[in-house]
Amino acid sequence: MSSARFAGEMAVILSLVILLTGCGAEEAPPDLRQPAGWDDALRLPDAEDHDPAPDVVEVHLEARVAAIEVVPGLTTEVWTYNGMLPGPTIRAKKGDRVVVKLQNHLPEATTVHWHGLRVPAAMDGTQHVQKPIEPGEGFEYSFTVPDAGTFWYHPHLRSSAQVGAGLYGAFVVEDAEEAPLGDELLLVMSDIGIEEDGSLTPADESGWFGDYFGREGGTVLVNGKIVPTVAAREGVPQRWRVVNAARSRYFRFAVPDQPLVLVGGDGGLSERPLPVDEVRLAPGERAELTMLPVEGQSVVIPLLDANRFHLPSEEKPKDLMRLELADEPPGRGAPPLPERLAEIASIDTAGAQRQAVEFMEQGDTDGAVLGINGQTDGSLMFSAKTNTVEIWTLTNTTNYDHPFHLHGFFFQVLDIDGAEPPVRAWRDTVNLVPGKAVRIAIPFDDRAGMWMFHCHILDHADLGMMAMLHLMP
Ligand code: C2O
Ligand code: CU
Repeated sequence: MSSARFAGEMAVILSLVILLTGCGAEEAPPDLRQPAGWDDALRLPDAEDHDPAPDVVEVHLEARVAAIEVVPGLTTEVWTYNGMLPGPTIRAKKGDRVVVKLQNHLPEATTVHWHGLRVPAAMDGTQHVQKPIEPGEGFEYSFTVPDAGTFWYHPHLRSSAQVGAGLYGAFVVEDAEEAPLGDELLLVMSDIGIEEDGSLTPADESGWFGDYFGREGGTVLVNGKIVPTVAAREGVPQRWRVVNAARSRYFRFAVPDQPLVLVGGDGGLSERPLPVDEVRLAPGERAELTMLPVEGQSVVIPLLDANRFHLPSEEKPKDLMRLELADEPPGRGAPPLPERLAEIASIDTAGAQRQAVEFMEQGDTDGAVLGINGQTDGSLMFSAKTNTVEIWTLTNTTNYDHPFHLHGFFFQVLDIDGAEPPVRAWRDTVNLVPGKAVRIAIPFDDRAGMWMFHCHILDHADLGMMAMLHLMP
């Protein structure tokens, strides 16, 4: 074959290949770089792993008071893990063993609860399963993490006071098999009460009134910062893992002019992506979002009035954070979101036991108390059998929202006031709106023991809106 003819044939073959693969010479490879320093103002440090084994994560936490400049120009004695607000992010892979060695250097006893993680009952961090960790003492938590998702950790003793003073951190469990959804941005939303002299607002501020309404700190924080900025670039997706770690405050927010897609919640990815205009997170809840910026301007992300009291309100939105659109050419080649994010089977509820949970109040305006099913001292005890499914009907007969949280197990919401939720997802926390019944299905496994369920407005839990579940073989 002459070399001219060979070259001609090669050219034909090459152009065929180009046609077939659809990869024209003008088309450039994907460019999905975030702008330089995009998350510098927000990135939370990961806890150091002190165990070299690839499937063991050993974290050392020191609960202690630390002087931190939260409000510029003021020094506040914040209650911290390792001197940080929030505490360091514990990061593990699905299936890892996690060992957390906690030392308590606080002026009072504490424990740590692993919110949303399916740990053995003895590791759950409540006063029903462990002795309080006294000042100067330590405790070793050890468990495997069976589920991928966005979780968090916080004390379970005097929880409103201790969480409110700064004790909380995120716990992320990754799964290498998940489709990449964008560069991760972890957003731990919270608030704190700081007086003009920099001191912490007393934990019992306003007495009964504070307990009853739930204390919100006047300083709203995202990753311990006041209105921090994240940079973004058109066409380059970000995956936001959002935790509401506030003791009482609900976080409702929207990103003006930028599309948000809800991809997951408390227990990892949901069944499929759900485009949303805004997000409303009750205390304890998590949301996973993707944000694929479109052409637009830098904006302030407002903290909208969540109106958990259902009262007419003229509250102006506060600023939550800033989104800065980089002045760079748009990124290219972001893959579309998969249509299916996770396989979440519906729960077989044939033969399920049923129980009813009523979040209620008793008494009058000079001293109403909050409780569950008529018990206002936290002494209510449910029992259930291991490896069974139960359907719980959750109602709220008060006039205000309360988030229900169950320790140790995920559930699926079957319906809210008869309406099925738009996507199937695993949850450990669900908001209860006055007058609307929420039916959940809980598949219990073999982790027998004493578990709690309660309102995650922590002032309410401390006031008696909490109960126990005894899971027995
Ligand atoms: Cu976030 Cu009883 O817990
Ligand atoms: Cu409540």
